[in-house]
Amino acid sequence: MNHSPSQPIGIFDSGIGGLTVAHAIRSLLPSEDIIYFGDTAHLPYGDKSEAAIQAYSIKITDVLLKKGCKVIVIACNSASSAAYELLKEYVRKDAHIINVIDPMVDFVNESFKGKSIGLIGTKRTVQSGVYDRKITELKASITLKTLATPLLAPMIEEGFFNNQISHEIISQYLSDESLSGIEGLILACTHYPLIKKEISTFYQNAYPILDSSEVVAVALKKYLEINRLENPNGTPSHHFFVSDFTQSFESSTRLFFRELVHLETHRLWN
Ligand code: DGL
Repeated sequence: MNHSPSQPIGIFDSGIGGLTVAHAIRSLLPSEDIIYFGDTAHLPYGDKSEAAIQAYSIKITDVLLKKGCKVIVIACNSASSAAYELLKEYVRKDAHIINVIDPMVDFVNESFKGKSIGLIGTKRTVQSGVYDRKITELKASITLKTLATPLLAPMIEEGFFNNQISHEIISQYLSDESLSGIEGLILACTHYPLIKKEISTFYQNAYPILDSSEVVAVALKKYLEINRLENPNGTPSHHFFVSDFTQSFESSTRLFFRELVHLETHRLWN
């Protein structure tokens, strides 16, 4: 892999939820150029088949490779669980791929040995069993209790959080018996940092609520440092592409990126 520090970081998600990861990356690595791709034409990924998500992910990866990305971050749990291994094979030496699952599994290994931890995410992520498999492989006596919470991503996208409706839906899900006795909760969907506070309040702030955006940014920084790929340039450029533009997606960027960003259209299929 022969990359130069000045190449951009590619980040992709099914839509705009992955902007939570992009935001964490920009905060930790302010000198890096970022190219974000949200596959708004095909969201949500959470209830798509593995094969469909793999096909979309390959197309997006082609776009990011053409734009010269040195690293590609899969800022979506559904795509990380369905397409990470395939993308690694596909990209080979052309870029380094980082998913949102492995950095979280490493973090859980350090902090939850012998404990019981919960996980909420889309149907695709939960049914894939990828977290169960990777956490079992650690042999760290960690009990993982998972629950698919498919209403949460669309709820957040519609701006329903910190209100009565979101409280109701969140408490219904978190009261599910399958999550009983947990001592921490993994937010295995890049939309969920927006409801982290509400979730924490549900547990009366008694347990850590783990959001992958920060651990992924830290994993990326480590990779860049070890491989001497950090961009020393002080004037970074950021581009945000979507496969289907609507005004409402653009307005929602304010929620996920904490500021309004301009979305450029880039169709995956013509
Ligand atoms: N951001 C996606 C994830 O992390 C969830 C949204 C979707 O279903 O597309 O899984």
